[in-house]
Amino acid sequence: MNTIALVGAQWGDEGKGKVIDILAKSSDYVVRATGGSNAGHTVVSGGKTYKLHLIPSGILYPDTKNIIGNGVVVDPKVVLEEMDSLVKMGVSMKNLFIDLRAHVVLPYHKEIDELAEKAKGKDAIGTTKRGIGPCYADKCDRIGIRVIDLINPETFAQKLKANLEFKNKIIVNVYGGKPLDYKSVLDEYNGYAKRLAPFACDTGVMLYDAIKANKRIVFEGAQGTLLDLDSGTYPFVTSSHPISGGFCAGAGVGPTAIKEVLGIAKSYTTRVGAGPFPTELDDEVGKHLLEVGKEFGVTTGRARRCGWLDAVILRIAVRINGLTSLAINKLDTLTGLKKLKIATHYMRDGKEVNDFPADISLLEGCTPVYEEFDGWTEDISGCKSFDALPENAKKYILAIERLAGCKVSMIGVGPDHEQNINR
Ligand code: GDP
Ligand code: IMO
Ligand code: MG
Repeated sequence: MNTIALVGAQWGDEGKGKVIDILAKSSDYVVRATGGSNAGHTVVSGGKTYKLHLIPSGILYPDTKNIIGNGVVVDPKVVLEEMDSLVKMGVSMKNLFIDLRAHVVLPYHKEIDELAEKAKGKDAIGTTKRGIGPCYADKCDRIGIRVIDLINPETFAQKLKANLEFKNKIIVNVYGGKPLDYKSVLDEYNGYAKRLAPFACDTGVMLYDAIKANKRIVFEGAQGTLLDLDSGTYPFVTSSHPISGGFCAGAGVGPTAIKEVLGIAKSYTTRVGAGPFPTELDDEVGKHLLEVGKEFGVTTGRARRCGWLDAVILRIAVRINGLTSLAINKLDTLTGLKKLKIATHYMRDGKEVNDFPADISLLEGCTPVYEEFDGWTEDISGCKSFDALPENAKKYILAIERLAGCKVSMIGVGPDHEQNINR
């Protein structure tokens, strides 16, 4: 079997887009299974920068088939805009397939996401306001509208009418917002449906045939382990399962269809949105990571919170995803820092803590315990092998392997897909 799943090992934005692009080059299929347009994946290839939200990163290769699986929540407006901008950049859409069972993000999802965040005040999650949570909530509530419904004008008109009547009551009576107009949403989305219909199919069946034919398949993770609805820092999480188990439900494959699981992490930690972050730095080093690492969100443009690498998090990622190896990106961002630190565990009330507690408010009282390393000043952005790295950079990578309990198979030394070391 020739399948590999890529998952974010931290809070998202670990450089998944870049690694997926590297693997997609020699793959037959790239499959997105969870999340929606909250994701922002950057691919730097051939001097061009591509920012992808819903379309799998394999789209840049003409012979790779790209699947948006049933577990993704599809915003038709965003996916069509993305298709248009890629076509303008010379990328063909002939190999894009969208599952008929995928749920559709509608304007009321985005409106409610925005209003609910505002209503939460200081307790807001800091969502991307892309309607992700409300769309998954409708799916669970069994009132969602799927791609199959969208492309059937009669079904869509009827389901939209029923949903909008109900959602407008919430928008107006609960949040004091303005109601959405049925006719204009209907017309707008009927237009999207016409354009999306040719791409819609049963991707689960397609994928099963591909697995049986021993095709090379990459499952493209979005978000990251600590944003998982069950295992993450709830409630400061997203509303899907961005962990390896999520690929099974979200792509419609069994767990035995996934041979390897590659966890993507940065050489430090970042997070966008609210919630606990034990190794967060509010000092000169934090500023270095933000500025040198250009840590600004692809989807919302927000500055990402930055901090030291946290081995507690990496061990959680190894455990929950069953990682077979790790890719460590952005090693080059650490260049120039005199001392580097990795949190090995935390201390709380004089006791050692090795995991995130279920009650995340307890994380506030956790003080990270760090192992310290000497930094390096050499430019590593052109390094092509592990041996070519400065001694201190090698020591840092070996320490990650030891502390995470997982081998490091790839190292990123720059944003371009060529700036990658395979071990
Ligand atoms: P994703 O959501 O996991 O795909 O990651 P994002 O694209 O949101 O953020 C990762 C950022 O880091 C992007 O701007 C990438 O171009 C960049 N990047 C990825 N790998 C490296 C690396 O090894 N070095 C540097 N300097 N930048 C990288
Ligand atoms: P990629 O795929 C980083 C975060 C949001 C917020 C929380 C909930 O680029 O790694 P949501 O809009 O999903 O309801 O927001 O999750 N979040 C991400 N953070 N990278 C992402 O995706 C994210 N997708 C969602 O900032 O804290
Ligand atoms: Mg991102």
